[in-house]
Amino acid sequence: MASLWGGRFTGKNDSLMQSFNESLRFDRRMWKADIVGSQAYAAALAQAGILTTAERDTLVSGLDKVGEEWESGKFVALPTDEDIHTANERRLGDFVGAVAGKLHTGRSRNDQVATDMRLWLREEAENLKRFLVELIGAAVVRAEREIDVIMPGYTHLQRAQPIRWSHLLLSWAWSWHADAERLQQLTQRMNQLPLGSGALAGNPFNVDRAFLAEKLGFESPMPNSLYGVSDRDFVAEILFWCSLTMVHLSKFSEDLIIYSSAEFGFVQLADAYSTGSSLMPQKKNPDSLELIRGKTGRVFGGMAGFMMTLKGLPSTYNKDLQEDKEPMFDAVDTISACLQIAAGTLSTLTINSDKMKASLSNDMLATDLAEYLVRKGVPFRETHHVAGRAVQMAESRGVQMSELSLADLQTLHPSFSSDAAEIWDYEKSIDQRCATGGTSRATVTEQIRVLKAWVEAE
Ligand code: ARG
Repeated sequence: MASLWGGRFTGKNDSLMQSFNESLRFDRRMWKADIVGSQAYAAALAQAGILTTAERDTLVSGLDKVGEEWESGKFVALPTDEDIHTANERRLGDFVGAVAGKLHTGRSRNDQVATDMRLWLREEAENLKRFLVELIGAAVVRAEREIDVIMPGYTHLQRAQPIRWSHLLLSWAWSWHADAERLQQLTQRMNQLPLGSGALAGNPFNVDRAFLAEKLGFESPMPNSLYGVSDRDFVAEILFWCSLTMVHLSKFSEDLIIYSSAEFGFVQLADAYSTGSSLMPQKKNPDSLELIRGKTGRVFGGMAGFMMTLKGLPSTYNKDLQEDKEPMFDAVDTISACLQIAAGTLSTLTINSDKMKASLSNDMLATDLAEYLVRKGVPFRETHHVAGRAVQMAESRGVQMSELSLADLQTLHPSFSSDAAEIWDYEKSIDQRCATGGTSRATVTEQIRVLKAWVEAE
């Protein structure tokens, strides 16, 4: 059978050209969006008087049959099926005969494909949101259960100040929460309908595009047909969204990979999310997290590649745009898996709270020593210097800072008094950081309250 556009051609396509051009092998996954879009279009054509209601009903039920074939895995693609749009229309013809040829009246694959992709992505975005909510939920559950656990917080990967483990868990959760918000925003922006733009210049049969938009659940029709067929900003946005979310997952993974090493020993991954070594019997490797970290590069690469595809394109539809699908599918598949693996890994790992606590050292309270003096009215710059000298004094004597006597401290500043001994209490240090967003029990509890309510509402 000839292709759907074969009328003006006398020669045949080169066979390599045919497979080069073909996109059914990857765009078949949009079959449902394509059917739903076509059914809405048939309704609009009937409204515009191009189809009788009987013809419309024939097309709609014929399209249902095509959909059933995809659903049950029985759809048989022919070598001449160039993409999902031509494949569905060809199969519709098998079922309903010549009337199938009326479906594409005033429509082009240009407005069709742009519509299908938006429909497909809108549904996927809901799954992505659900996976994010589950991941955030996993972090919040742990944060609530393990709020007593304290650990070193790091900057530059150097011990910095004591924090609650829950505070770290929630810091990841907040970045995922922002990802969920961004996902919602970009799906809102994407929710404009290209269908009814024709090939580029608009629809000549005055189909009611507002009706189409409503039927397909779009906010409104796109306001310009040239823009309608060419706009792929939503693809760029979802690729960026996937990239940024992967960066957040990568940071989470990297933190836990480090903490799972014997040198830290803060966490241990469950067997379900680890693998062994084929050579070294003792090994338990954090492959789940390493794969998430590694796949970040792949998702980012898809985004960079697609931006290069867009760069230099003239207006309206160009076949280059067929290159929009594989990176989008791959990024969505990859991040769907990563979000679920991250949730599983996070909710099943065990922590070693003794090891976390034992890794705290007095010098992590040097800032608290400075702050002690601030509370006695000494300017911070001066107290910072005094605390630095206390660090040095302890270091030169080979003792912990807490072992410096009151007399020692008083040689550094006269404002030290007997209550200075209380500086060396990690819990106290942590709970002093009680301004909104801090690591104190009260402010961590507040974060848990807000995120938990969000998860429950989603
Ligand atoms: N398979 C094509 C794509 O994915 C569909 C649009 C084809 N349009 C055209 N004018 N050849 O972009």
